[in-house]
Amino acid sequence: MSGHGTPIPMTSSPCGPLSGEAHVPGDKSISHRSLILGAMAVGETKISGLLEGEDVLDTGKAMQAFGAEVVNHGGGNWSVHGVGVGGFGEPDTVIDCGNSGTGVRLIMGAMATSDITVTFTGDASLNGRPMARVTDPIALFGATSVGRSGGRLPMTIVGARDPLPVRYEVPMPSAQVKSAVLLAGLNAPGQTVVIEKEATRDHTERMLAGFGAEISVEETNEGRVITLTGQPELKPQTIVVPRDPSSAAFPVCAAIITPGSDVLVPNIGLNPTRAGLFYALQSMGADLTFENEREEGGEPVADLRARFSPNLKGAEIDPLRAASMIDEYPVLSVVAAFAEGDTVMKGVKELRVKESDRIDAMAKGLRANGVEVEEGDDWWIVKGRGHGNVPGGATCESFLDHRIAMSFMVMGMASQKPVSVDDGSPIATSFPIFEPLMAGLGASISRTAQ
Ligand code: S3P
Repeated sequence: MSGHGTPIPMTSSPCGPLSGEAHVPGDKSISHRSLILGAMAVGETKISGLLEGEDVLDTGKAMQAFGAEVVNHGGGNWSVHGVGVGGFGEPDTVIDCGNSGTGVRLIMGAMATSDITVTFTGDASLNGRPMARVTDPIALFGATSVGRSGGRLPMTIVGARDPLPVRYEVPMPSAQVKSAVLLAGLNAPGQTVVIEKEATRDHTERMLAGFGAEISVEETNEGRVITLTGQPELKPQTIVVPRDPSSAAFPVCAAIITPGSDVLVPNIGLNPTRAGLFYALQSMGADLTFENEREEGGEPVADLRARFSPNLKGAEIDPLRAASMIDEYPVLSVVAAFAEGDTVMKGVKELRVKESDRIDAMAKGLRANGVEVEEGDDWWIVKGRGHGNVPGGATCESFLDHRIAMSFMVMGMASQKPVSVDDGSPIATSFPIFEPLMAGLGASISRTAQ
């Protein structure tokens, strides 16, 4: 089982205005998929702007273990020499996906229809997360698996020798599960059909089409029906990874709550399946604008301008938007603490099975810092105290969850007293330049306990 080494306590102290440009790293979801689809294409895929966070690097190592050649050319430029659909070899070691649910679930799907046996593990967070949501559908293709109780890692999967195509309705809103089924469908004959009731991030569908697979998406009364024709020859691509809206969320929210701030976050993908947070912030009265709106590589992109917003109002966040901002609820709950009135977040039970139980982790830390929170199984309410009235002063547990750690660092920038986390080391999984980037804007984050 991998870990994060020695815990790194961090403290964020109230700071002056944040200003300047925040160049956030590449999109994590797209980075994982670039490496995996690159490994399943025939020939060399070139990737620029890859997120070089631990999660993605673990996926790169895994693709190498399956036989692809993954080369780091420096400066975010990588290449993957793929082995083709059905070309994965059996790794001779355990595949360690570290902290990454996306990594392990997508790779399980990708190998499930190859005649190989693979053992997966991860860190303490990943080894506690549910994997039945992937092993159930890949069993329909003919893969078998054995793991720990509760469908948890470490787990061994025996890929299907003679895979069958499947028709699968994803039972929860999960892009990881949808993607695992589609990647498994690549090496099954005939058509694999995946149905999702709520639209989740659609990077896998877009990229499969880009790599030359036959894939169609239909909006029907049943939901989004995705049909993939199996056993294509995927053509290598040149991929420019857009910057991650989920990472942009941190400087954006920090600027919104920190007096006098004015921050530009350039080149952020505004794919509608990812951009929910920005619209939710606007509905709370945040001074957030989209500048220089354009299209790049088939994705809507803009420069985000976030300014201090003294009159934030709590809001009821539309549950229909939940999937498009699922990773952003922790930092949204911090903004909600600085708003007047209640922010109500419903239809969010998936938050309980992320890198941590994110409702529980945020509720504990917010309460410790003087903010009231009510919670139920799939909802929570943050009782905003209004700008200038958030006490802070406490140390929060990050529960091996990068987004929990970064959210509390944002909180410390505008609370009355500093806010600490017991361990900021997981930040390196998704946003390795978080500390220098925030320092460059004027934040005061130190690697110390309070
Ligand atoms: C992701 C899907 C989401 C998200 C995760 C990345 C992806 O997970 O939380 O950070 O890249 O497909 P779920 O599929 O569990 O909702």
